[in-house]
Amino acid sequence: MIRSVVLGCGSYLPARALSNADLAKTVDTSDEWIVQRTGIRQRHVAAQGEFTSDLAIRAAQATLGHAGVDAQSIDLIVLGTSTPDNTFPAAAVTVQAGLGIHHGAAFDLQAVCSGFVFALATADGLLKSGSYKRALVIGSETFSRLLDWTDRTTCVLFGDGAGAVVLEAQQQAGTREDRGILTAHLRSDGRYRNKLYVDGGPSRTGTVGHLRMEGREVFKHAVANITDVIEDAFRATGFTAADIDWFVPHQANKRIIDGSAQKLGIDPSKVVSTVERHGNTSAASIPLALDVAVVDGRIKQGDLVLLEAMGGGFTWGSVLLRW
Ligand code: ACO
Repeated sequence: MIRSVVLGCGSYLPARALSNADLAKTVDTSDEWIVQRTGIRQRHVAAQGEFTSDLAIRAAQATLGHAGVDAQSIDLIVLGTSTPDNTFPAAAVTVQAGLGIHHGAAFDLQAVCSGFVFALATADGLLKSGSYKRALVIGSETFSRLLDWTDRTTCVLFGDGAGAVVLEAQQQAGTREDRGILTAHLRSDGRYRNKLYVDGGPSRTGTVGHLRMEGREVFKHAVANITDVIEDAFRATGFTAADIDWFVPHQANKRIIDGSAQKLGIDPSKVVSTVERHGNTSAASIPLALDVAVVDGRIKQGDLVLLEAMGGGFTWGSVLLRW
């Protein structure tokens, strides 16, 4: 059967890092509060004039280099983002043009913090159908542009960045020992759309708006939803927590990550966590974390890697793959 195999990954962070101490100069917060409640110590913020597509292009170039493939071999770009440069066209077509690609298809996918998991699953489906051969799957965000910088309950949590992988359609044996995406599970439940949302948009207000969140409510649902969809992945493949080499969750909050790993029985030494340095970069957080763990030598070819995310909507999902 055809599997979508990861050929390489890469990422990009804007140059400017904003520490908790920097934030404490402008809102009533402290490094101690932020670290204790979230595990975040700093986040990166895009420069003026630096857009989501710019971050995505830098991450894509690094990814193509790491994978050792030419941009012209890419025939599909799926960009997970909730902060496109413009309402339309999709930031993905700006990335496509920036990479000099004039064939194939490119589109944005909006599932907030679950964007990368949704984008991976979508690209996997398109590759498996035989319609495309090689996909760039990117998560790129400039959440700094959506934040109310006077609201301490939200502005301390998020950051900007981008990460990507190249997926290639490859013929595999069809067993769970195959390389590539082994199973993907996506969920959403719009009854919770007001728990985490942006209070503006082209149709409703004609403005961009600001991020609003009921933090406690989001927290309450996060661990339960995440563990549910990971158990779906285990059921579909027969793998258990003990088989997982690396757990690379969406990086929203250290307490959510640790709570999910504990509930699932995943050893803490197998958890890749970058929330301390990146904050919550929404759709970019998983590919950013993947890149860190590949560069430092933790994730190696053949490893079983479990990804999961939950975000506004609510949306949530899991992807289990062999690197
Ligand atoms: N600095 C200092 N004090 C603060 C801050 C801050 N930055 N933010 C809130 N507080 C205060 C509140 O005003 C409140 O004060 P009060 O008791 O005088 O009213 C107190 O701290 C406690 O506030 P809570 O909101 O109850 O704090 P909680 O322990 O729930 O932590 C947090 C808040 C960190 C947002 C937590 O609810 C959380 O992590 N929720 C998940 C949200 C999340 O991760 N969202 C990301 C997107 S969704 C996803 O990706 C999964």
